[in-house]
Amino acid sequence: MTETPRTAAAAPHDASRDASDLFSELTGSDPRGTWSAPGRVNLIGEHTDYNDGFVLPFAIQHRTHVALGTRADAVIRVVSTFDPVPVEVAIADLGTLFPARREEVPEWARYPLGVAWAALEAAGRDAASVTGVDLAFASNVPVGAGLSSSAAIEGATAAALDDVWQLGLDPVARARVGRTAENEAVGAPTGIMDQMASNLGRADAGIFLDCRSLEAEVVDLGFTAAGLELLVMDTGVKHSHATGGYGERRAACERGAALMGVAALRDLTPADLDRARGLMDDVTFRRVRHVVTENHRVLDTVRVLAESGASAIGELLVASHASMRDDFEISVPELDTAVESALSAGAVGARMTGGGFGGAAIALVARERVDRVRDAVAAAFAASGFASPTQFTVSPSAGAGRD
Ligand code: GLA
Repeated sequence: MTETPRTAAAAPHDASRDASDLFSELTGSDPRGTWSAPGRVNLIGEHTDYNDGFVLPFAIQHRTHVALGTRADAVIRVVSTFDPVPVEVAIADLGTLFPARREEVPEWARYPLGVAWAALEAAGRDAASVTGVDLAFASNVPVGAGLSSSAAIEGATAAALDDVWQLGLDPVARARVGRTAENEAVGAPTGIMDQMASNLGRADAGIFLDCRSLEAEVVDLGFTAAGLELLVMDTGVKHSHATGGYGERRAACERGAALMGVAALRDLTPADLDRARGLMDDVTFRRVRHVVTENHRVLDTVRVLAESGASAIGELLVASHASMRDDFEISVPELDTAVESALSAGAVGARMTGGGFGGAAIALVARERVDRVRDAVAAAFAASGFASPTQFTVSPSAGAGRD
């Protein structure tokens, strides 16, 4: 008898259908089509992307879908199941709204409208050359969980507009458009990892990305062959990268690179750390040490995966978490509890994933232990008086495209 773990990658609800239905409610007609893009989990390589470094994320089965139809006028209108009040802008006004007047746009709508603006800029097209569009969004990517619901809405929008407006953008160009929208239209100073994972994702594989050259290599993760599952433990602690800690960490990294006389922390190796210690204050030094050692761990993870398989990467995941907790100081007690209790219950490795200050941790777990780990994490949260976490397994999935 085979037992289905209670945490099995619950097929997320059909958000494609929801997007189409919402579109029909809004316009009274059927959409021209639906497009979608996934959220992501980062296996390892945190806060390395904006330091020109290495990351190893994968796209997950949770996706944001958009149903699109064209309009006779030159207006872009967006609506979402999260906030059913439509937001409508003349396409010709996008260039004056972003970035200067972004505050006038409701927060969630800055993502798709920011993508429309950045996509036209990237393709060198002016507003008069494209048709008006209606876009209706629905998503099953958990919001604020560190699984990149933002890259998913950006990726879905870019894929849809690229097709309908015939912008000729390839997946890397669409990832850049997503990052521009996030940086300039939303105002979050993030790197490009999430958008690359969402646009380039492949079933059963990770994306090993050099964030300087944007060269991406598809890496076999081999979880299934190794009998492993990737458990997401969403702490429910909300975070935002448009404010506070994320930007401060980024500034510390830039300061550290400048003091070391390099273009980016990517240019340092662990052998440079002794010299770094003497050139900067302790906090900046620890931020630098996290990034330098984390880059190294990504390279090690890719090598170990190829040589020994996924069961052998546990220590690297654990070291990554310790570095984020102690040196980069972006963990929170809920994330530490998730990681520690998962490890105590027999996970192969565990770490927080994403930007930090909340969101989710991940654990790599033998299939037959998933329920035990999940129960142990839930029990540890209860014992600490934390709200109960949401846990589910994820599998590496395809990137953005037409449904
Ligand atoms: C967020 C950002 C990414 C990356 C991670 C941390 O997810 O969007 O660009 O910096 O944090 O690795």
